Amino acid sequence: MQHKREAFWFYRYLSNFYDKLVNPLFWTEPMREKALDIVDWSEPDKLKVLDVGSGTGFTTQGIVQRVPARNVICLDQSPQQMERAMVKPELENCRFRLGDAEHLPFPDDTFDRYVSAGSIEYWPDPQQGIFEAYRVVKEGGQALMIGPIEPVNPVSKFIANAWMLFPPENDYHLYFQTAGFTDIDWVYVRPQWQANERYGIAIVGTKPAPGPSAKAGPRRSRALTAHEPEGGWLGRNLLLTGRVLVGSTAGFLFIPMALLAHVTAPLRGVEGEQQPLNKEQKAVLYGLGAVAVFFIGRAILRRRR
Ligand SMILES: C[S@@+](CC[C@H](N)C(=O)[O-])C[C@H]1O[C@@H](n2cnc3c(N)ncnc32)[C@H](O)[C@@H]1O
Repeated sequence: MQHKREAFWFYRYLSNFYDKLVNPLFWTEPMREKALDIVDWSEPDKLKVLDVGSGTGFTTQGIVQRVPARNVICLDQSPQQMERAMVKPELENCRFRLGDAEHLPFPDDTFDRYVSAGSIEYWPDPQQGIFEAYRVVKEGGQALMIGPIEPVNPVSKFIANAWMLFPPENDYHLYFQTAGFTDIDWVYVRPQWQANERYGIAIVGTKPAPGPSAKAGPRRSRALTAHEPEGGWLGRNLLLTGRVLVGSTAGFLFIPMALLAHVTAPLRGVEGEQQPLNKEQKAVLYGLGAVAVFFIGRAILRRRR
């Protein structure tokens, strides 16, 4: 299970190249549009929207194409990620708030729409995050959760679970049903290089009655924040550093794996229009190619000697 402090440190550094390397591979514009389209955006001027785990604002950029930016609040636990969203011109009129998805700093029944994309896999207690989504949405409002589905490929599954929680598809349905959402609907999303149709899910539900979920336990008086100390200082920090290093390595491994999958997609007969790689992605790919050529060349030379 992911720890909030680990996610905090992971994004402390990942935010530097998130928009260039991560989103264009794993959470693309066509995926975003398909996911957001299952929400009812009619009467946009009247909709107050909360984007949880808003990060660098990529999903928010899709939301503000549907709802005026002044109606949107972005919440994230990472100041580094948020700073990158705040400088995007189209998000200028959004409001930004640091906070925890599992303990939202808003009263019950505040928002007409709740959106969270690609954040649930970092939450130690996803059901609690979805209870919170339910609580802050108004009666008749909708919550949309977008997240990865546990991979089928054993290597990807191992790497994914080493660091994050990739819930099996059924868990998403259970989280929503348990919270009490009704009219639950969903679509699958995948980047164009990914053959697996069930790579990610976007699931939406409607809140049928005001107040918190009947199944939610008593609310803690305050959030367990990313910065809050727990346990003994030395052990806690050693464990945290070790997990961040191992976990970040596992997380970063997804980038070369996805780049390789991207370039081999036509050979593998993966359907869908392939997006061209940007210059940062090309640089990583050429770098990997150079390393591979170096090691293969060295192995050949050694054999010849
Ligand atoms: C993969 S990014 C997704 C960002 C954004 N939604 C997008 O569409 O690009 C995940 C984000 O979730 C945030 N996050 C992780 N755990 C969180 C928590 N418990 N509360 C709030 N934000 C969290 C991270 O800081 C990060 O910015």
